[in-house]
Amino acid sequence: MTTPSSASAALTRLLGCRVPLQQAPMGAVSGPRLATAVADAGGVGTLSAAGWSAADLADRLDEVVPRTHGVLAVNVAGEPVTDVVAAAAERVPLVDFFWSDPRPDVVDLVHRAGALACWQVGSDAEARAAVDAGCDLLAVQGTEAGGHVRGTGPLLPLLDAVLAWAPVPVLAAGGISDRDEVAAVLGAGAAGVRMGTRFLATPESAAHPAYKQAVLAAGTGATVVSADFADCPLCRTSPRARVLRACVEALDDQVRAGTARWPASGRPPTEDVEGPVAAAAMYAGEGVGRISGLVPVAELMAALCPPAEATSDRAVTSSLRRGVEQLGSSLGS
Ligand SMILES: Cc1cc2nc3c(=O)[nH]c(=O)nc-3n(C[C@H](O)[C@H](O)[C@H](O)COP(=O)(O)O)c2cc1C
Repeated sequence: MTTPSSASAALTRLLGCRVPLQQAPMGAVSGPRLATAVADAGGVGTLSAAGWSAADLADRLDEVVPRTHGVLAVNVAGEPVTDVVAAAAERVPLVDFFWSDPRPDVVDLVHRAGALACWQVGSDAEARAAVDAGCDLLAVQGTEAGGHVRGTGPLLPLLDAVLAWAPVPVLAAGGISDRDEVAAVLGAGAAGVRMGTRFLATPESAAHPAYKQAVLAAGTGATVVSADFADCPLCRTSPRARVLRACVEALDDQVRAGTARWPASGRPPTEDVEGPVAAAAMYAGEGVGRISGLVPVAELMAALCPPAEATSDRAVTSSLRRGVEQLGSSLGS
Protein backbone atom coordinates (compact mmCIF):
# COMPACT_ATOMS: atom_id res chain seq x y z
CA MET A 1 0.00 0.00 0.00
CA THR A 2 1.19 3.52 -0.73
CA THR A 3 1.93 5.45 2.46
CA PRO A 4 1.75 9.27 2.60
CA SER A 5 5.52 9.60 2.58
CA SER A 6 6.02 7.09 -0.25
CA ALA A 7 3.46 8.89 -2.42
CA SER A 8 5.31 12.16 -1.82
CA ALA A 9 8.67 10.56 -2.47
CA ALA A 10 7.34 9.17 -5.77
CA LEU A 11 6.25 12.69 -6.73
CA THR A 12 9.54 14.34 -5.81
CA ARG A 13 11.45 11.62 -7.67
CA LEU A 14 9.27 12.12 -10.75
CA LEU A 15 9.66 15.89 -10.77
CA GLY A 16 13.18 16.14 -9.37
CA CYS A 17 12.14 18.50 -6.55
CA ARG A 18 12.80 18.08 -2.82
CA VAL A 19 9.50 19.22 -1.33
CA PRO A 20 6.10 17.86 -2.46
CA LEU A 21 4.63 21.30 -2.87
CA GLN A 22 3.70 23.21 -6.01
CA GLN A 23 3.15 26.94 -5.96
CA ALA A 24 0.02 27.33 -8.06
CA PRO A 25 0.11 29.48 -11.16
CA MET A 26 -1.48 32.86 -10.46
CA GLY A 27 -1.19 34.77 -13.72
CA ALA A 28 1.16 37.74 -13.49
CA VAL A 29 1.08 37.57 -9.69
CA SER A 30 3.24 34.46 -9.81
CA GLY A 31 6.10 36.05 -11.66
CA PRO A 32 9.71 34.89 -11.92
CA ARG A 33 10.66 36.16 -8.47
CA LEU A 34 8.03 34.02 -6.72
CA ALA A 35 8.44 30.96 -8.93
CA THR A 36 12.25 30.86 -8.63
CA ALA A 37 12.08 31.41 -4.86
CA VAL A 38 9.76 28.38 -4.53
CA ALA A 39 12.01 26.34 -6.83
CA ASP A 40 15.10 27.38 -4.86
CA ALA A 41 13.34 26.25 -1.68
CA GLY A 42 12.81 22.78 -3.15
CA GLY A 43 9.22 23.03 -4.38
CA VAL A 44 7.81 23.48 -7.86
CA GLY A 45 7.61 27.12 -8.89
CA THR A 46 5.01 27.81 -11.55
CA LEU A 47 4.98 30.54 -14.17
CA SER A 48 1.98 31.43 -16.28
CA ALA A 49 1.95 31.41 -20.09
CA ALA A 50 -1.13 33.66 -20.14
CA GLY A 51 -0.76 36.57 -22.52
CA TRP A 52 2.58 35.39 -24.00
CA SER A 53 3.19 34.44 -27.62
CA ALA A 54 5.31 31.32 -28.14
CA ALA A 55 8.35 33.42 -29.12
CA ASP A 56 8.03 35.80 -26.16
CA LEU A 57 7.45 32.92 -23.74
CA ALA A 58 10.54 31.17 -25.09
CA ASP A 59 12.66 34.33 -24.60
CA ARG A 60 11.28 34.79 -21.11
CA LEU A 61 11.97 31.19 -20.10
CA ASP A 62 15.46 31.31 -21.57
CA GLU A 63 16.10 34.21 -19.23
CA VAL A 64 14.30 32.87 -16.10
CA VAL A 65 15.07 29.13 -16.11
CA PRO A 66 18.85 29.57 -15.54
CA ARG A 67 18.12 31.66 -12.43
CA THR A 68 17.34 28.55 -10.37
CA HIS A 69 18.62 25.00 -10.02
CA GLY A 70 15.16 24.03 -8.81
CA VAL A 71 12.08 22.85 -10.69
CA LEU A 72 9.88 25.23 -12.66
CA ALA A 73 6.56 24.54 -14.38
CA VAL A 74 4.61 26.56 -16.91
CA ASN A 75 0.83 26.79 -16.72
CA VAL A 76 -1.42 26.94 -19.75
CA ALA A 77 -4.93 27.98 -18.73
CA GLY A 78 -7.77 27.82 -21.25
CA GLU A 79 -7.64 26.13 -24.65
CA PRO A 80 -3.97 25.21 -25.28
CA VAL A 81 -2.14 26.89 -28.18
CA THR A 82 0.24 24.24 -29.48
CA ASP A 83 3.28 26.41 -30.22
CA VAL A 84 3.01 27.96 -26.74
CA VAL A 85 2.84 24.47 -25.21
CA ALA A 86 5.87 23.38 -27.25
CA ALA A 87 7.88 26.46 -26.21
CA ALA A 88 7.17 25.63 -22.56
CA ALA A 89 7.77 21.88 -22.83
CA GLU A 90 11.16 22.42 -24.48
CA ARG A 91 12.31 24.56 -21.53
CA VAL A 92 10.77 23.33 -18.28
CA PRO A 93 10.20 19.79 -16.97
CA LEU A 94 6.48 20.22 -16.27
CA VAL A 95 3.66 21.77 -18.26
CA ASP A 96 0.51 22.34 -16.30
CA PHE A 97 -3.00 22.70 -17.78
CA PHE A 98 -6.30 24.01 -16.49
CA TRP A 99 -9.71 25.12 -17.68
CA SER A 100 -9.91 23.07 -20.86
CA ASP A 101 -10.79 19.47 -21.60
CA PRO A 102 -7.76 17.14 -21.39
CA ARG A 103 -6.35 16.46 -24.89
CA PRO A 104 -4.15 13.48 -25.80
CA ASP A 105 -2.53 15.40 -28.68
CA VAL A 106 -1.44 18.18 -26.30
CA VAL A 107 -0.08 15.71 -23.73
CA ASP A 108 1.74 13.92 -26.55
CA LEU A 109 3.28 17.21 -27.63
CA VAL A 110 4.56 17.77 -24.09
CA HIS A 111 6.00 14.25 -23.95
CA ARG A 112 7.71 14.55 -27.31
CA ALA A 113 9.54 17.61 -26.00
CA GLY A 114 10.70 15.57 -22.98
CA ALA A 115 8.48 17.17 -20.33
CA LEU A 116 5.73 15.89 -18.03
CA ALA A 117 2.10 16.95 -18.18
CA CYS A 118 -0.21 17.78 -15.28
CA TRP A 119 -3.90 18.66 -15.64
CA GLN A 120 -5.77 20.42 -12.84
CA VAL A 121 -9.28 18.94 -12.67
CA GLY A 122 -12.47 19.63 -10.78
CA SER A 123 -14.26 16.28 -10.98
CA ASP A 124 -13.64 12.57 -11.02
CA ALA A 125 -14.79 12.39 -14.66
CA GLU A 126 -12.32 15.08 -15.65
CA ALA A 127 -9.54 13.29 -13.74
CA ARG A 128 -10.29 10.11 -15.73
CA ALA A 129 -10.17 12.10 -18.97
CA ALA A 130 -6.78 13.54 -17.97
CA VAL A 131 -5.36 10.10 -17.19
CA ASP A 132 -6.82 8.72 -20.44
CA ALA A 133 -5.13 11.60 -22.26
CA GLY A 134 -1.80 10.38 -20.86
CA CYS A 135 -1.12 12.91 -18.08
CA ASP A 136 1.74 12.06 -15.75
CA LEU A 137 0.13 13.68 -12.74
CA LEU A 138 -3.11 15.29 -11.68
CA ALA A 139 -4.01 18.24 -9.51
CA VAL A 140 -7.49 17.87 -8.03
CA GLN A 141 -9.10 21.16 -7.15
CA GLY A 142 -11.84 21.57 -4.56
CA THR A 143 -14.28 24.46 -4.54
CA GLU A 144 -12.37 25.99 -1.62
CA ALA A 145 -9.74 27.12 -4.13
CA GLY A 146 -8.85 30.69 -4.92
CA GLY A 147 -9.24 31.77 -8.53
CA HIS A 148 -11.28 29.93 -11.13
CA VAL A 149 -13.21 27.07 -9.65
CA ARG A 150 -13.53 24.14 -12.01
CA GLY A 151 -15.71 21.70 -10.10
CA THR A 152 -18.70 21.75 -7.81
CA GLY A 153 -17.56 19.91 -4.70
CA PRO A 154 -15.08 20.29 -1.84
CA LEU A 155 -11.55 18.94 -1.95
CA LEU A 156 -11.45 15.98 0.43
CA PRO A 157 -14.27 13.85 -1.10
CA LEU A 158 -12.93 14.51 -4.60
CA LEU A 159 -9.41 13.65 -3.51
CA ASP A 160 -10.63 10.39 -1.95
CA ALA A 161 -12.56 9.47 -5.08
CA VAL A 162 -9.63 10.11 -7.41
CA LEU A 163 -7.06 8.43 -5.15
CA ALA A 164 -9.18 5.26 -5.18
CA TRP A 165 -8.22 4.56 -8.80
CA ALA A 166 -5.66 7.06 -10.14
CA PRO A 167 -2.47 5.40 -11.39
CA VAL A 168 -0.49 8.68 -11.29
CA PRO A 169 0.58 11.00 -8.43
CA VAL A 170 -2.19 13.35 -7.30
CA LEU A 171 -1.73 16.88 -5.97
CA ALA A 172 -4.43 18.38 -3.74
CA ALA A 173 -5.52 21.99 -4.27
CA GLY A 174 -7.98 24.32 -2.65
CA GLY A 175 -8.08 26.22 0.64
CA ILE A 176 -4.82 24.82 2.03
CA SER A 177 -2.94 27.44 4.03
CA ASP A 178 -0.88 25.90 6.78
CA ARG A 179 1.25 22.97 7.85
CA ASP A 180 -1.60 21.03 9.46
CA GLU A 181 -3.66 21.17 6.28
CA VAL A 182 -0.66 20.13 4.19
CA ALA A 183 -0.20 17.18 6.55
CA ALA A 184 -3.92 16.40 6.31
CA VAL A 185 -3.99 16.04 2.55
CA LEU A 186 -0.69 14.13 2.49
CA GLY A 187 -2.15 11.91 5.19
CA ALA A 188 -5.22 11.39 3.03
CA GLY A 189 -2.93 10.01 0.32
CA ALA A 190 -2.15 13.01 -1.88
CA ALA A 191 1.37 12.87 -3.30
CA GLY A 192 1.71 16.63 -2.98
CA VAL A 193 0.00 19.93 -2.42
CA ARG A 194 -0.72 22.80 -4.78
CA MET A 195 -1.14 26.14 -3.03
CA GLY A 196 -1.91 29.55 -4.49
CA THR A 197 -3.45 31.96 -2.01
CA ARG A 198 -0.85 31.36 0.72
CA PHE A 199 1.88 32.48 -1.67
CA LEU A 200 0.15 35.81 -2.34
CA ALA A 201 1.26 36.97 1.10
CA THR A 202 4.99 36.70 0.48
CA PRO A 203 7.46 39.48 -0.32
CA GLU A 204 8.27 37.62 -3.55
CA SER A 205 4.74 37.59 -5.00
CA ALA A 206 3.97 40.32 -7.53
CA ALA A 207 0.55 41.01 -5.97
CA HIS A 208 -0.29 44.69 -5.48
CA PRO A 209 0.46 45.85 -1.91
CA ALA A 210 -3.27 46.53 -1.37
CA TYR A 211 -4.04 42.96 -2.47
CA LYS A 212 -1.49 41.53 -0.02
CA GLN A 213 -2.95 43.73 2.69
CA ALA A 214 -6.49 42.55 1.88
CA VAL A 215 -5.34 38.91 2.08
CA LEU A 216 -3.74 39.51 5.48
CA ALA A 217 -6.83 41.34 6.75
CA ALA A 218 -9.33 38.70 5.55
CA GLY A 219 -11.09 36.58 8.14
CA THR A 220 -13.20 33.45 8.00
CA GLY A 221 -15.87 33.58 5.31
CA ALA A 222 -14.14 36.44 3.49
CA THR A 223 -14.40 34.84 0.04
CA VAL A 224 -17.20 34.22 -2.42
CA VAL A 225 -17.53 32.47 -5.78
CA SER A 226 -18.42 35.23 -8.18
CA ALA A 227 -19.45 35.66 -11.81
CA ASP A 228 -18.76 39.39 -11.68
CA PHE A 229 -15.39 39.43 -13.45
CA ALA A 230 -17.02 38.35 -16.65
CA ASP A 231 -14.60 40.01 -19.09
CA CYS A 232 -11.99 37.47 -18.07
CA PRO A 233 -11.18 35.01 -20.90
CA LEU A 234 -11.64 31.99 -18.62
CA CYS A 235 -14.94 33.33 -17.25
CA ARG A 236 -16.31 33.54 -20.77
CA THR A 237 -16.66 29.76 -20.78
CA SER A 238 -17.83 29.46 -17.15
CA PRO A 239 -17.92 32.54 -14.90
CA ARG A 240 -16.95 31.04 -11.55
CA ALA A 241 -14.03 32.42 -9.58
CA ARG A 242 -13.42 32.58 -5.85
CA VAL A 243 -12.42 36.11 -4.83
CA LEU A 244 -12.38 38.26 -1.73
CA ARG A 245 -15.95 39.36 -1.01
CA ALA A 246 -14.62 42.89 -0.43
CA CYS A 247 -13.61 43.33 -4.08
CA VAL A 248 -17.06 42.24 -5.31
CA GLU A 249 -18.63 44.78 -2.97
CA ALA A 250 -16.24 47.50 -4.18
CA LEU A 251 -17.06 46.61 -7.80
CA ASP A 252 -20.80 46.80 -7.04
CA ASP A 253 -20.31 50.22 -5.45
CA GLN A 254 -18.35 51.49 -8.46
CA VAL A 255 -20.84 50.12 -10.97
CA ARG A 256 -23.74 51.67 -9.01
CA ALA A 257 -21.93 55.01 -8.89
CA GLY A 258 -21.09 54.75 -12.59
CA THR A 259 -17.40 55.12 -11.82
CA ALA A 260 -16.07 51.64 -12.52
CA ARG A 261 -12.38 52.05 -13.26
CA TRP A 262 -11.41 48.43 -13.33
CA PRO A 263 -12.64 46.65 -16.45
CA ALA A 264 -13.79 43.52 -14.60
CA SER A 265 -11.17 41.77 -16.70
CA GLY A 266 -10.27 39.08 -14.22
CA ARG A 267 -6.65 40.21 -14.06
CA PRO A 268 -5.56 40.13 -10.42
CA PRO A 269 -3.90 43.42 -9.43
CA THR A 270 -0.12 43.32 -9.68
CA GLU A 271 2.41 45.61 -8.02
CA ASP A 272 2.88 47.70 -11.18
CA VAL A 273 -0.79 48.76 -11.38
CA GLU A 274 -1.39 52.41 -10.60
CA GLY A 275 -4.57 53.86 -9.17
CA PRO A 276 -7.28 52.27 -7.05
CA VAL A 277 -7.46 48.48 -7.08
CA ALA A 278 -10.19 47.82 -4.51
CA ALA A 279 -12.54 46.55 -7.23
CA ALA A 280 -9.98 44.40 -9.05
CA ALA A 281 -10.30 40.61 -9.08
CA MET A 282 -8.60 39.69 -5.82
CA TYR A 283 -8.69 35.90 -6.10
CA ALA A 284 -8.38 34.08 -2.80
CA GLY A 285 -9.21 30.64 -1.46
CA GLU A 286 -11.19 29.77 1.64
CA GLY A 287 -7.99 29.32 3.62
CA VAL A 288 -7.27 33.04 3.41
CA GLY A 289 -8.55 33.61 6.95
CA ARG A 290 -5.71 31.49 8.32
CA ILE A 291 -2.91 33.51 6.70
CA SER A 292 -1.33 35.51 9.45
CA GLY A 293 1.72 37.23 8.04
CA LEU A 294 3.84 38.26 5.09
CA VAL A 295 6.45 35.49 5.20
CA PRO A 296 9.43 35.08 2.84
CA VAL A 297 9.09 32.02 0.60
CA ALA A 298 12.06 30.07 2.02
CA GLU A 299 10.74 30.45 5.56
CA LEU A 300 7.18 29.65 4.48
CA MET A 301 8.21 26.52 2.61
CA ALA A 302 10.22 25.25 5.56
CA ALA A 303 7.23 25.84 7.84
CA LEU A 304 4.70 24.22 5.51
CA CYS A 305 6.35 21.02 4.54
CA PRO A 306 9.63 19.22 5.19
CA PRO A 307 11.37 17.48 2.27
CA ALA A 308 9.55 14.30 1.19
CA GLU A 309 12.19 11.92 2.49
CA ALA A 310 11.89 13.55 5.92
CA THR A 311 8.09 13.40 5.96
CA SER A 312 7.64 10.49 8.34
CA ASP A 313 4.27 8.89 8.77
CA ARG A 314 4.42 9.90 12.44
CA ALA A 315 4.92 13.59 11.60
CA VAL A 316 2.08 13.44 9.10
CA THR A 317 -0.25 11.72 11.53
CA SER A 318 0.41 14.18 14.34
CA SER A 319 -0.86 17.08 12.26
CA LEU A 320 -3.50 15.12 10.39
CA ARG A 321 -6.41 15.49 12.77
CA ARG A 322 -6.02 19.26 13.20
CA GLY A 323 -5.71 19.75 9.45
CA VAL A 324 -8.76 17.65 8.59
CA GLU A 325 -10.78 19.55 11.19
CA GLN A 326 -9.66 22.91 9.75
CA LEU A 327 -10.41 21.91 6.17
CA GLY A 328 -13.77 20.48 7.22
CA SER A 329 -14.73 23.61 9.14
CA SER A 330 -13.70 25.91 6.28
CA LEU A 331 -16.34 24.15 4.15
CA GLY A 332 -19.02 25.52 6.39
CA SER A 333 -17.78 29.10 6.07
C1 LIG B 1 -4.57 34.79 -7.60
C2 LIG B 1 -4.83 33.45 -8.22
C3 LIG B 1 -4.69 33.29 -9.59
C4 LIG B 1 -4.85 32.02 -10.18
N1 LIG B 1 -4.60 31.88 -11.51
C5 LIG B 1 -4.54 30.63 -12.04
C6 LIG B 1 -4.07 30.43 -13.38
O1 LIG B 1 -3.70 31.37 -14.08
N2 LIG B 1 -4.01 29.15 -13.84
C7 LIG B 1 -4.39 28.07 -13.07
O2 LIG B 1 -4.27 26.94 -13.52
N3 LIG B 1 -4.86 28.25 -11.82
C8 LIG B 1 -4.93 29.48 -11.28
N4 LIG B 1 -5.36 29.64 -9.99
C9 LIG B 1 -5.90 28.47 -9.24
C10 LIG B 1 -4.79 27.54 -8.72
O3 LIG B 1 -4.35 26.69 -9.75
C11 LIG B 1 -5.25 26.65 -7.55
O4 LIG B 1 -6.31 25.83 -7.90
C12 LIG B 1 -5.63 27.42 -6.31
O5 LIG B 1 -4.72 28.46 -6.05
C13 LIG B 1 -5.67 26.49 -5.10
O6 LIG B 1 -6.38 27.08 -4.05
P1 LIG B 1 -5.75 28.09 -2.98
O7 LIG B 1 -5.58 29.38 -3.70
O8 LIG B 1 -6.79 28.15 -1.92
O9 LIG B 1 -4.45 27.53 -2.52
C14 LIG B 1 -5.24 30.91 -9.38
C15 LIG B 1 -5.42 31.08 -7.99
C16 LIG B 1 -5.22 32.32 -7.41
C17 LIG B 1 -5.39 32.47 -5.92
